[in-house]
Amino acid sequence: MKITPLKIGTVTIENPFILAPLAGFTDLPFRLLCRENGAGLVYSEMISCHGLTYNQQKTIDMLQTDENERPVAMQLFGSEPDIMGNAAKILSKYPIDIIDINMGCPVKKVIKRGAGSALMKTPELAGQIIRQVVENCNKPVTVKFRSGWNHQSINACQFAQMAEEAGASAVIIHARTWSDGFSGKADWDIIRQVKENVAIPVIGNGDIHSYETALALMHETGCDGVMIGRASLGRPWIFHADSPPATSRLRLATLHRHLQLISRYTRQGWALGKIRNHAGRYFKGMPHGASIRSRIYQVKTFSELQSMVDGLLHESLTQEPEEQREQQTDKN
Ligand SMILES: Cc1cc2nc3c(=O)[nH]c(=O)nc-3n(C[C@H](O)[C@H](O)[C@H](O)COP(=O)(O)O)c2cc1C
Repeated sequence: MKITPLKIGTVTIENPFILAPLAGFTDLPFRLLCRENGAGLVYSEMISCHGLTYNQQKTIDMLQTDENERPVAMQLFGSEPDIMGNAAKILSKYPIDIIDINMGCPVKKVIKRGAGSALMKTPELAGQIIRQVVENCNKPVTVKFRSGWNHQSINACQFAQMAEEAGASAVIIHARTWSDGFSGKADWDIIRQVKENVAIPVIGNGDIHSYETALALMHETGCDGVMIGRASLGRPWIFHADSPPATSRLRLATLHRHLQLISRYTRQGWALGKIRNHAGRYFKGMPHGASIRSRIYQVKTFSELQSMVDGLLHESLTQEPEEQREQQTDKN
């Protein structure tokens, strides 16, 4: 399958394999790591429109970017059109490329305020939000949503048409309903149906666990791009077209790089907290992985973790390639 660049509004993305927004994970260091590993575009964690308009420090910290990660998209969530518009105006001043609107989050505290996937039940309000965001920013706007609220109210096609009419430059479909949460099989056919119903680019999401499945999704549905979430955690090389074998050397070298990026871009005292969510995932499915994970959870400081990973990487670099291959358990 020939991979061509993807155009979202005025922004050209060199390849259509995209890092999904993942709250608690897709901060600047991880986004940079995914770009270095071949992701064509990266999405931030969801950012509260209230936090942005009230200039809350925690929210401002989430806006940290770097030239090397561009193109980058920042995702807003909220349910009041005027506040979302104001937040988009503020966000536009940052060196970012795309603004995304979250209309897919199933989390209770987001839903109860009418935001995230609750907006799939109020498409008129969703349209007003999209219009306000589009009118108040100078960047292309994407909208990320689900198949529908539940299996009795699948409305992704109408929702996508509404988003296109309201000025969105692309839509992203997580092919599950709110009622599915994050489990059950994603129904890729919904992505195919959406693609047939709008002219703007359609990005498919859900159940992508390798580069090959990403290609299969594009092939089966005709979608223009693929967004990868959980499968990128501990495996950012998933974005590589040549899918390198997940040897222990590759895992350690990638974690080593992740630690470097965290130490460069994270405030002192926060680095260990930032990497804890990620570190153990690099060793999932690897022989002796469980014992490495338990050592990781016992470290008390970031520099202790760095020394441990340095030591393990050094050990793996002195091993023969055959031993490395034996240690590989999954391809990606
Ligand atoms: C821990 C976690 C955090 C997430 N945070 C966000 C978020 O901030 N914004 C969003 O639109 N989706 C969020 N999602 C949903 C993902 O972007 C994605 O749509 C979903 O995980 C399905 O893709 P996957 O099967 O490739 O993981 C999150 C999912 C998980 C598991």
